[in-house]
Amino acid sequence: MNTIKKITVIGAGTMGNGIAHVFAMKGFDVTLVDISKDALERALDIIAKNLTRMVKKEKITAQDHKNALAAIQTNTSVSKGVEQADLIVEAATENVDLKLNIFKEMDLHAPQHAILASNTSSISITKIAAATKRPAQVIGMHFFNPVPVMQLVEVIRGLETSDTVTNTVMDIAKTIGKTPVEVNDYPGFISNRVLMPMINEAIYSLYEGVAGVQEIDTVMQLGMAHPMGPLHLADFIGLDVCMYIMKVLESGLGNPKYAPCPLLVKMVDAGKLGVKTGEGFYDYSNGVKEKTVSGLFSA
Ligand code: 3HC
Repeated sequence: MNTIKKITVIGAGTMGNGIAHVFAMKGFDVTLVDISKDALERALDIIAKNLTRMVKKEKITAQDHKNALAAIQTNTSVSKGVEQADLIVEAATENVDLKLNIFKEMDLHAPQHAILASNTSSISITKIAAATKRPAQVIGMHFFNPVPVMQLVEVIRGLETSDTVTNTVMDIAKTIGKTPVEVNDYPGFISNRVLMPMINEAIYSLYEGVAGVQEIDTVMQLGMAHPMGPLHLADFIGLDVCMYIMKVLESGLGNPKYAPCPLLVKMVDAGKLGVKTGEGFYDYSNGVKEKTVSGLFSA
């Protein structure tokens, strides 16, 4: 397996910009790809801000900041952006058809030796791999939000992912300062198979009137030392993402217990997706999370 020097990240959203940030900070050449020039500019701004935060906390030097930003190129074309990549991490929207099309494009234009990884939170790696001519080189590299902070990389082997590729990705994850954990390819893997039903149950508790928004989150923060309560975390992940993952679990595992809570569906239908739209279970409009009027949450 060739040494990994050039990384392409596809998708300049929350996860994509975080993944580009961590690779650039560790000296890799990074190409960040997105069809939207605006998204690429926003991503570079966010990366610069997060690097500045780290300089202020003396976690990196001003020179590290400069080197990391200089290591990131941008491109609006998948085919051009992957031409010289050794490892590609796809971090596009959680939509299976979009991912399959992107992987077909990556497979056509990436070097023969390149590893094709997906940051998908729940979609089958085996299914994604089957859309390419190199299934042995397709793998899941699942990062967690915020990527510069969360230690875990969940490494998901598809049915045909080779040992060599798996070992290479495990090593790369360690090189960028993360802790990789290898899991097999079933819906939700481990992270979202365990996390999302917990979040869904918290939403059911609100829906059934067991307790209020703040109370549910405070129980889990003070009782279980969670850094964020489940409803705040759902806002942070995105309520649409949470609903999508529950639907993947319900259909993939064939069990109605994974059906998204009707209140979660209602919130998504209302466009209240959490932090990214300014309101979910909390109101972020003035930058500080406040309790949203509870009238919305009566069952
Ligand atoms: N980007 C980079 N760094 C960030 C950051 C961001 N967006 N947000 C916070 N940080 C850093 C801060 O600089 C600070 O760094 P320091 O420890 O060196 O001082 C540290 O994180 C703590 O930040 P704050 O003090 O500002 O705030 P908190 O203490 O409240 O921590 C948090 C914020 C790190 C987000 C914390 O609340 C947390 O860990 N929450 C849980 C997040 C989580 O569970 N993520 C996984 C979601 S599931 C997922 O992503 C999978 C997907 O498939 C759904």
